[in-house]
Amino acid sequence: MDSRRFLVGLTGGIGSGKSTVADLFAAHGVTIVDTDAIAHALTAPGGAAIPAIREAFGDPVIAEDGALDRAAMRAIVFADPQARHRLEAILHPMIGHCCELMIAEASGPYTMVVVPLLVESGRWRQRIDRLAVVDCPVEAQIARVMQRNRFERSQIEAIIAVQASREARLAAADDVVDNGGDPQALAPQVDALHARYLELAARKAAGPGGAGETGPAAATHRDEEGR
Ligand SMILES: Nc1ncnc2c1ncn2[C@@H]1O[C@H](COP(=O)(O)OP(=O)(O)OP(=O)(O)O)[C@@H](O)[C@H]1O
Ligand SMILES: [Mg+2]
Repeated sequence: MDSRRFLVGLTGGIGSGKSTVADLFAAHGVTIVDTDAIAHALTAPGGAAIPAIREAFGDPVIAEDGALDRAAMRAIVFADPQARHRLEAILHPMIGHCCELMIAEASGPYTMVVVPLLVESGRWRQRIDRLAVVDCPVEAQIARVMQRNRFERSQIEAIIAVQASREARLAAADDVVDNGGDPQALAPQVDALHARYLELAARKAAGPGGAGETGPAAATHRDEEGR
C-alpha cells in the first residue's frame, strides 16, 4: 500500500448529497471508494457477509434471493442496540478490508472514501488526511429521502437521530460542501476542492523533505477560512 497517497474522507448525513458530490469528484478522475456500495455488495445474494449474518440473526433476516432483508434487519437494529453492534462487528471489518484493497489499487494523485458515519468512526478519522463534509439543513435531508426512498418522515428522523449531529460534523470538517441550495451550486465547489486536494496530495507525495505537511496544513487552512 502506498501510504503517501492522499486520502480524502467524504461524509454527510443521510440524503445530504454525498453520492451526488462523489460523482462530481469521479468526473475529475478521482477514484471513489464507496463504503455503502461495498456494504451492499457484501450483503447481496452470495455476498461474503451473508453466512455470518445468517449465523448471528437467523433465516428471517435473509430474503428469498439470499440477500440481506434490509427492512427486517433495520427493524431489528432499531429496536436493539446490541443487535446493531453485532451486525457492525460482522460488517465493519469486512468493509474496512475491502476499502483497503480498493485504496491500494487506486490510481491518480488522491483517493476519496465515502463513509456515511465517518465522524462517528475513530478508525476512519485516523486513516484519512482530510475530511470533507456535505452539509444541508436537516429539513432538506428529510425532504430528499422522503422523495427518493418513500420512507416515512419518522423513519428518517430516527436514522438522523442515531447519526452525528449537523454541528458535530461541521466541527470535524476540514472542508464543507454546501448542498443546501440548488444542485447546480455543487460543481464550482467541487472544482475548487479538487484543485486544493491536488495541491495537498502533491505536498504529501513530496514527503517530509518537501513542503510536505498535511495535518497541520489542513488545520491552518481551516483556520484561515475561519471554519
Ligand atoms: N441540492 C439538491 N437539491 C435537491 N435534491 C438533491 C440535491 N442534492 C441531492 N439531491 C437528491 O437528494 C437525494 C439524496 O442525494 P444523495 O443520494 O446524493 O445523498 P447521500 O448523502 O448519498 O444519501 P445517502 O445517505 O442515502 O447515501 C438524491 O435523490 C439526490 O438526487
Ligand atoms: Mg449515498
